[in-house]
Amino acid sequence: MPAPVEIDLERVICRLADLAEHGARAFTLGGGDWPMRGFVVRAGNGVRGYLNRCPHAGHPLNLLPHRFLTPDHALILCTSHGALFEKESGRCLAGPCSGQALVAIPLLVVADLVLLADPVPPAATTAAARRTR
Ligand code: FES
Repeated sequence: MPAPVEIDLERVICRLADLAEHGARAFTLGGGDWPMRGFVVRAGNGVRGYLNRCPHAGHPLNLLPHRFLTPDHALILCTSHGALFEKESGRCLAGPCSGQALVAIPLLVVADLVLLADPVPPAATTAAARRTR
């Protein structure tokens, strides 16, 4: 019998099943007026995480809750000005920030839970802090 896995519940974002409806899910980390906002997305057999901040103008990518994808769920869509991003890499394929990329947030999948990897990368917290300016 395998040893039980210890899970830090403060790092749990969602269950894999929570990604079924829209293919993605938003989350907030931390408190205060400007918590870090991100989202997780199904990409192939895996899951990727990104800051919810478009490299074009810094807007959140979604207007509606958990809606980050094109209608066919093939790409990530920024609803502000239509930039399209690869789910696997976060790279912008088309739009005003073509060639730039979303800031990745490393994740772990344990059992059916999606968790933030430890530690959260400094680039993610720095990018979140820029939103406060
Ligand atoms: S803010 Fe995302 S495309 Fe302009």
